[in-house]
Amino acid sequence: MKFIVQGLAGKRLAGTIPVLGSKNACLKVFAAAILTSEPVIIKNAPLIEDIFRMRELLASLGAEVENRGRVFRIVAKNIKTRALDDGIAKSLRASIVLAGPMLARFGEVQFSYPGGCVIGKRPIDLFLDGFKKLGARVTSDKQGNRFTVKAKRLRGANICFRLVSVGGTETLMMAATLAAGRTTLHNAAQEPEIIALADFLNKCGARIKGAGTNTITVDGVRSLHGGVFQTPPDRLETGSFAIMGALLGDKLKITNCNPAHILGVIEHLESMGASIKKGRTWLEVTRAKKPLPVNLKTHEYPGFPTDLQAPFAVLLTQAYGTSMLFETVFDGRLTYLEDLNRMGADIVPCDAHRAVFHGPRSLRDREADAPDLRAGLAFIFAALIAKGESIIHNAYNIDRGYEKIEDRFSGIGVNIKRV
Ligand code: EPZ
Repeated sequence: MKFIVQGLAGKRLAGTIPVLGSKNACLKVFAAAILTSEPVIIKNAPLIEDIFRMRELLASLGAEVENRGRVFRIVAKNIKTRALDDGIAKSLRASIVLAGPMLARFGEVQFSYPGGCVIGKRPIDLFLDGFKKLGARVTSDKQGNRFTVKAKRLRGANICFRLVSVGGTETLMMAATLAAGRTTLHNAAQEPEIIALADFLNKCGARIKGAGTNTITVDGVRSLHGGVFQTPPDRLETGSFAIMGALLGDKLKITNCNPAHILGVIEHLESMGASIKKGRTWLEVTRAKKPLPVNLKTHEYPGFPTDLQAPFAVLLTQAYGTSMLFETVFDGRLTYLEDLNRMGADIVPCDAHRAVFHGPRSLRDREADAPDLRAGLAFIFAALIAKGESIIHNAYNIDRGYEKIEDRFSGIGVNIKRV
């Protein structure tokens, strides 16, 4: 499937676009449902491909998963296997977070190296080391592709992450809820999704303190009960739409969001000259006529999110002057820049992490492949400022994280069709 996008030819985006529930918060609560045999209800879930894959993965383990609209009900009472389905896990990096709850509740989990989009195939050493520190035995096949992790009951431990990992923090935090004794996680990730997960687990009987700071302590309990999770607004969707507003908006209103979660992004957009009004649950963004250049360095929360680096790069192609981009969180997350150059941008890659932008440059229509969710969205933004009609292949990668983007963008003046 592909998207066909018409350039706006000087038109501006206006109207209101509501933000949906957070993909990355919701996915982790699907995994947390494995920690209890009682029902877990998830409200305000986004209806996106990654959530559908997670649902399939839970169902393949034997969990009952029902949904009505945006409400999912999960009962992990009759889990029949300890092995995560290979096919699904290979298409979804977030599948690895299930390993923590499976191990904690059943004393065993088997899984293959997780996959996903181009940046999905990243290391899992922090997970394996963490499981070992919690007292588990980790074995793998000869190729190091399939893992078995076992522990009668996990034991609390002092763990310091070598680098800050969102999934690593969430997985070990979940595993530690049922461990014997206290676990302390140092150099933990501080994303709002981690606070949301810890709050939910505490409502289910866990004893977690410090989520949202870099030191989290978890006092293990014997069992957890069920609970209700209200998915918070997606801060990455909020940030994506705010960047879109800074590029093309004329009082583009973004609602149902929490601007407090994207302060780093707002700061960058304002320093480029965008005009941003904000309330507690909304933002209104108008583009700068002549965007100023800015240096961007991605950083763990509360810094500028790596997930918004690609959409922001499109804005940098329109800035009057020279900007520098420095991706510090992931390797291989700048390959999409070649496509922006083919569209007419003037971006000089320095190495795998840094690039220099000269602007502004007019962009031309092109065909491109969405390499991952966020770069896929960046190509839609690039197509909107380009002349003519662009085609973005591999719509699935965009559907992984943005629900029915063509319908939602049509409402603010975008001419986009799914074919
Ligand atoms: C989460 O991925 C998000 N995904 C990603 O969003 C996001 O880009 C990322 O955090 C960083 O903010 C979900 O929440 C489902 P990490 P995660 O472990 O947890 C390295 C999106 O578009 N690392 O924080 O998998 C890793 O290679 C997605 O919504 C190890 O070296 O990311 C990376 O360089 C894409 N060893 C860095 O840590 C490990 O064992 C941070 O990754 C684990 C990670």
